[in-house]
Amino acid sequence: MTTSPPARAAALDLWYLYGRSRADADRSVPDSFSWVWAQDGGPGSEVLGDVTGLVLADLGAGAARHAAHLAVHHAPARVDAVDASPAQHAMAFDLYGHLAPRLRAVHADVTDHLEAHPDAYDVVYSVFGGLDFTDPRRLLPAAARALRPGGLLAASTLGHYLGGAPAEPDVRHADVPARTADGTATTMRRWVLQEHVWTKLLDEAGFTAIGIDRLPPATSGPRSADTLLVRAHRQR
Ligand SMILES: C[S@@+](CC[C@H](N)C(=O)[O-])C[C@H]1O[C@@H](n2cnc3c(N)ncnc32)[C@H](O)[C@@H]1O
Repeated sequence: MTTSPPARAAALDLWYLYGRSRADADRSVPDSFSWVWAQDGGPGSEVLGDVTGLVLADLGAGAARHAAHLAVHHAPARVDAVDASPAQHAMAFDLYGHLAPRLRAVHADVTDHLEAHPDAYDVVYSVFGGLDFTDPRRLLPAAARALRPGGLLAASTLGHYLGGAPAEPDVRHADVPARTADGTATTMRRWVLQEHVWTKLLDEAGFTAIGIDRLPPATSGPRSADTLLVRAHRQR
């Protein structure tokens, strides 16, 4: 049997399964915003400051739950929920397409999207999204250029590998386990970097006022992890 191009694209989409069962059961707009790995509290949307009337981009938005929260509860001018996965983009559109024009689901690679939109955003953020899975040597300069002068980059990323191995002391990705839609085991690139590595990359990309907080998990278990909460501003 031959596989049609869309079916092949779905089968190859390494994010096809992510958040799927939740999307079937929960179509609500979240009433809170969490940065931490377990999504069980910690700092919230106040990390972004007052976003009233601002233009934001969620880099690797998945089903766009964080973007939907901001669009409904914080009166931005617009949040672009950017994701490269056909399945995640379709899920975001299905769940929250009705929030347009305040929320816009954008199907694109984050670096390509940022490079195509210089000086477009007041805030760009990522919750274990594009920042984790994209070469930061391309992504961070693109993010700096896509921000208006003084604009904010905020992101949460892993403080160490799942399982406990330490983060990388250099700009080096790992090939971590992943599954295609039909369950085939494969790998994908993930950048799990130490704080000083992120700081150097951000500085080289043109960011200033760089701050990184390590947030330990509220409860420990085999899948629990420290979160690094990264904040930096584009130079004015
Ligand atoms: C772990 S999920 C997180 C999704 C969402 N931020 C959340 O917290 O539920 C990572 C997401 O990043 C997206 N992603 C990874 N690399 C990307 C890239 N280069 N461009 C756009 N999206 C990307 C994936 O498609 C996936 O939806």
